[in-house]
Amino acid sequence: MEYKEESTIKSSIASSVESFTESFTESFTESSTESSMKTDMGSAMGSAIESALIRTEDLKKYYKTSKGLLHAVDNVNISMNKGKTLGVVGESGCGKSTLGRVILRLTEATSGKVFYKDDNILLYSPRQMKKMRKAMQIIFQDPYSSLNPRMSVREIIEEPIKANRILTKRSDVNRRVKELMETVGLAERLINVYPHELDGGRRQRIGIARALSVNPEFIVCDEPVSALDVSIQAQILNLMMDLQESMGLTYLFITHNLSVVKHISNEIAVMYLGQCVEVCESDRLFENPMHPYTQALLRAIPNPDLSSRGQKKILIKGEVTDPIDPEPGCRFAPRCEYAQPICSQTDFKLKAVEASHYVSCMLK
Ligand SMILES: Nc1ncnc2c1ncn2[C@@H]1O[C@H](COP(=O)(O)OP(=O)(O)OP(=O)(O)O)[C@@H](O)[C@H]1O
Ligand code: SF4
Ligand SMILES: [Mg+2]
Repeated sequence: MEYKEESTIKSSIASSVESFTESFTESFTESSTESSMKTDMGSAMGSAIESALIRTEDLKKYYKTSKGLLHAVDNVNISMNKGKTLGVVGESGCGKSTLGRVILRLTEATSGKVFYKDDNILLYSPRQMKKMRKAMQIIFQDPYSSLNPRMSVREIIEEPIKANRILTKRSDVNRRVKELMETVGLAERLINVYPHELDGGRRQRIGIARALSVNPEFIVCDEPVSALDVSIQAQILNLMMDLQESMGLTYLFITHNLSVVKHISNEIAVMYLGQCVEVCESDRLFENPMHPYTQALLRAIPNPDLSSRGQKKILIKGEVTDPIDPEPGCRFAPRCEYAQPICSQTDFKLKAVEASHYVSCMLK
């Protein structure tokens, strides 16, 4: 992965938009793709799937509520290659965190499969899963609440090393904790301090060191920089990209910040109401978004060009559909200006519309 200049990331993050639903633009680009290119996601991703470290197959997580079944994650098929980052974006409540938690089995799936290399880990016994947990870690959004305030930096980082019996001799554990602190840029003098004595950036570095302590291959990063100041966000993103390069880590990077996701991701999956509506290489998605929802998201990013001031932006119409027992058909239909009767009658699947670009929409 190419490293980005910290200043570029900073200015880009600073100009990003926090809410996806702020505006809706007047027109969408015409589809130019031949229908003959269309194949379903499974066969289209054939070669990518073969080399995937992690992939999901028709993954579902439904929650039982008093009003009905809440479709938090609904038939999601994604694939992550070793050493790469898949960004996941979408509005609050669209199922990003649930997807990450279900892949890690922190939350049990309702149905579907999660393949780690060739094994469906949803079939693993608790004992097999305990071993697997070392390979799969998570970094949380809020370094303030995700660290135990009663534990020192040393205790927080060494806990997984001891719990998984990765090292047992006190001197080896000490050495490893110091090594990890150095890796994430924490000064050794901080080893006995407590999280509340540190700023947000340092606390997130502790969270990263803790995740790395078990030598994982795959990390779910759930909004890892959203709670940090813009200048600190750039430092942490750069650190994560450096670590990925040197350790060959694979990230599922969850965020609502499009500028952050563009910088860190090789590929991006756009989610709407529990479903993936578009998956594409990062740069290509920003050049040529094809799903009307993705187009709306990207056009909501503020334009720093002063000449564009005063140009009319159309607000996205309507409310997000209720995720409880959703009607069949495209879930974006009530808000989509291209909606036609067929959109509410058909469940569209992700289709390949060009190389490494998948969209679920009647227009494609
Ligand atoms: N334990 C639970 N029980 C019932 N519903 C839940 C539970 N956890 C999440 N949900 C619902 O599942 C849906 C997806 O939630 P999730 O937290 O995955 O969204 P998200 O995209 O991560 O949102 P955010 O950007 O706000 O973090 C939401 O409607 C949420 O209310
Ligand atoms: S399927 Fe229809 S309603 Fe859904 S995004 Fe495409 S055009 Fe809009
Ligand atoms: Mg979340």
